[in-house]
Amino acid sequence: MKAVIANEFGLPDTLQIKETPSPIPAADEVLINVKACGVNFPDVLIIQNKYQFKPTLPFSPGGEVSGEVAAIGEKIKHLKVGDRVVALCGWGGFAEQVVTKANRVFPMPPRMDFINGAGTLYTYGTSYHALKDRAQLKSGETLLVLGAAGGVGLAAVELGKVMGATVIAAASSSDKLVACKEKGADFTINYSIEDLRARIKEITSDKGVDVVYDPIGGPLAEAALRSIAWKGRYLVVGFASGNIPSFPANLPLLKGCSIVGVFWGSFAEREPKQSLQNFGELLGWINAGKLKQHIHKIYSLEEGPKALRDLMDRKVMGKAIIKVGNWTEAPPKPVPPSPKESIEPEKAAGLPTVIKLSEIKKYIGQSLGVSNWLTLTQEMINDFANATGDHQWIHVDVEKAKTLMPDGKTIAHGYLTMSLAAKFFFDMLVIEGSTTSINYGLNKARFPLAVKVGSRIRMHGSILNVEDMPGGGVKLFMECKMELEGEEKPAYIGELITALY
Ligand SMILES: NC(=O)c1ccc[n+]([C@@H]2O[C@H](COP(=O)([O-])OP(=O)(O)OC[C@H]3O[C@@H](n4cnc5c(N)ncnc54)[C@H](OP(=O)(O)O)[C@@H]3O)[C@@H](O)[C@H]2O)c1
Repeated sequence: MKAVIANEFGLPDTLQIKETPSPIPAADEVLINVKACGVNFPDVLIIQNKYQFKPTLPFSPGGEVSGEVAAIGEKIKHLKVGDRVVALCGWGGFAEQVVTKANRVFPMPPRMDFINGAGTLYTYGTSYHALKDRAQLKSGETLLVLGAAGGVGLAAVELGKVMGATVIAAASSSDKLVACKEKGADFTINYSIEDLRARIKEITSDKGVDVVYDPIGGPLAEAALRSIAWKGRYLVVGFASGNIPSFPANLPLLKGCSIVGVFWGSFAEREPKQSLQNFGELLGWINAGKLKQHIHKIYSLEEGPKALRDLMDRKVMGKAIIKVGNWTEAPPKPVPPSPKESIEPEKAAGLPTVIKLSEIKKYIGQSLGVSNWLTLTQEMINDFANATGDHQWIHVDVEKAKTLMPDGKTIAHGYLTMSLAAKFFFDMLVIEGSTTSINYGLNKARFPLAVKVGSRIRMHGSILNVEDMPGGGVKLFMECKMELEGEEKPAYIGELITALY
């Protein structure tokens, strides 16, 4: 395969385009045919051996890719060859193929294309975590974004607006500030020619800003901290300027403010549930057209070193993307309505749909799409038998099933299949504004097909009805249809009733 290779640590012009052997996935890894690779600041640092992760030479830069699964290790159950995916591989993405751990690979949302897929997780993931989890930015507050036309900066501008803040975008040129205005910035500051502190005073009528988003460090950092409002939050996101600032400790004392660190990669590893919830919320906004990545330029694989050089030279606005190979992509198909008696053909699973509890009635009659696949193992069947005391041989006696069942396999309890509806429900749907959800009941259950051990199963869901409940909650009626891989008929159809408060 072709790849951009670092044989030594150095600047982008030391990189070479080379033929190199395809990587082979280990048991817990996935091999991806790369379609596109996002260019991010850590790529510039990693080739110079200045990043916290230090791959051994030779290696390819490129930490964020979109593509198709080419091969999977023997332990991988939730992905298959041909799946469209996005992945945070760390490095190796400036290449025709990359191998990475399966827990860093995610199904690509159905309506996302490869170019946008390669440039979404890192920028929006970082900036949303920073603003939501670290700064706890509130609607009506004022947000200052430094380096506002860069990758994470422009994402912070868009997210700040979506979250209801007044956004002040600060960058080094008027072209960059035009891009920030297009993404909704309320005010702009050109810090190459304007005094940052004086302009912030003027814009905020001396009050200062509630949140500073700083991905660049350097001399602007202290000026920004001195411009923060009482109880403000200063987000330390990165040091693109190459200079790590130091602050006099009297500043946070006098301002009653916090200096808050942001390390999105570590957050995603340590708090995977919260990170997935964030992605679900982001996807909801992307699908609703509220967030749209600004693609600066699409480079070929051969132009990979130039893309890195442009990023270092502060020429890139939003995202630079490497397109690997000469492919074209059909526009995404509209999502078909859920048929009543059969399972629709392949529809790639995505991240959860995000719905506000207060707006849930708007979704009555709408499909929620499809969950990820799950493989039903004998261990799960045995655990269910132990929990319920139902040890019929057809479920648990593997040896007897080998001789007596037509295809030699045990089958899962019907109620086990049915009980998975709740798990799939939480995979598919994030309800904002809900603090409690109670599985209230199941209606009209039917089991058209038996589920054999080892089958892959997933759920299609749609909202049938929403009824008000006493105490301000709602009763959600969701149609659940369990699909078995390779089968036209569903394994189970029923209505899941969930009380939400
Ligand atoms: N903490 C985390 O979890 C996390 C996650 C992602 C990224 N980061 C960090 O955030 C920073 C920005 O990443 P990015 O991918 O958004 O990079 P980017 O697209 O290159 O944006 C960086 C911006 O910084 C400004 N800048 C100022 N001095 C610079 C210099 N000497 N060289 C390059 N840019 C300079 C530029 O804007 P102007 O020309 O307008 O000044 C540029 O647009 C990096 O330090 C990265 O490591 C941190």
